[in-house]
Amino acid sequence: MLRIAVQKSGRLYDESLKLLKECGLHVDNGMDQLKAEVRNFPAEVYFLRNSDIPQYLEDGVVDIAIIGENVLSEKNANVYVLEKLGFSKCRLSIALPKNDEYIGIASLEGKKIATSYPNTLQKYLDEKQVTAEIHLISGSVEIAPNIGLADAICDLVSSGSTLFKNGLEEKDILFRSEACIAVNPTALEEKKDIIDEILFRVQSVLKARDHRYILFNIPNKQIKTVGKMLPVLKSPTVLPLLDEGWSSMHSVIHVDDFWKVIRGLKEHGAQGILVIPVENMVI
Ligand code: PRP
Repeated sequence: MLRIAVQKSGRLYDESLKLLKECGLHVDNGMDQLKAEVRNFPAEVYFLRNSDIPQYLEDGVVDIAIIGENVLSEKNANVYVLEKLGFSKCRLSIALPKNDEYIGIASLEGKKIATSYPNTLQKYLDEKQVTAEIHLISGSVEIAPNIGLADAICDLVSSGSTLFKNGLEEKDILFRSEACIAVNPTALEEKKDIIDEILFRVQSVLKARDHRYILFNIPNKQIKTVGKMLPVLKSPTVLPLLDEGWSSMHSVIHVDDFWKVIRGLKEHGAQGILVIPVENMVI
């Protein structure tokens, strides 16, 4: 039985459950449940407080977790990161009131900085040989300069709107973070097969998210040229249409190539271009 930890509430919650679902795990989670069975996979899901997850993971209470890299780093947890998941991207940044002068972290020498990330901040200050007073706050850190509690803050920034609303400006980035799959080192040995299976599914889902299946009709005389334009997995599929002189071509393309490819296809006479999301991709 694999014990999987996910955030009980917060920004990672929805995406974490969505990922498990896309990996084919049916989680029976009712309201306010702290533990849920997975119907079709030998696993249990534990809904835990974000900040507690690294410790549970390190102690082996859970085997793997979907967690932000920022939390792992702050807690200095002795765990392995198996895969970055591409969601909940944010940065841990220093921010100051908009008009305050800042020419680098040395500007905070002797100043007071409010944060929920004291360890990461202290490490950064030590590296830069800056001495500042760290004021630990567990939430709503952005309010601190406005109420005279601190000169600066060190907090997570995603869209930047919380900083903006509080008249603060991002000045320095300490750490870039995203959600990841982290694993307890002992579990990685003892439950290798089941962890490999989860990882395989996660990687297939992530790959599929970055790709689209496209199909279109194309005059036969353009097949060779268009075929060269498609960054395919192996080689595009070509099927004859009932109308003579025309074929249907099918391929899988990366989202980054999408508009360039579509434009090229149209220029070469492609018609009826259909673009379909890919649910899973095993290559
Ligand atoms: C985080 C963080 C900031 C905010 C930044 O808080 O602490 O306050 O998000 O996001 P933005 O740049 O998109 O405005 P969150 O809402 O996750 O809750 P928390 O205070 O519990 O950390």
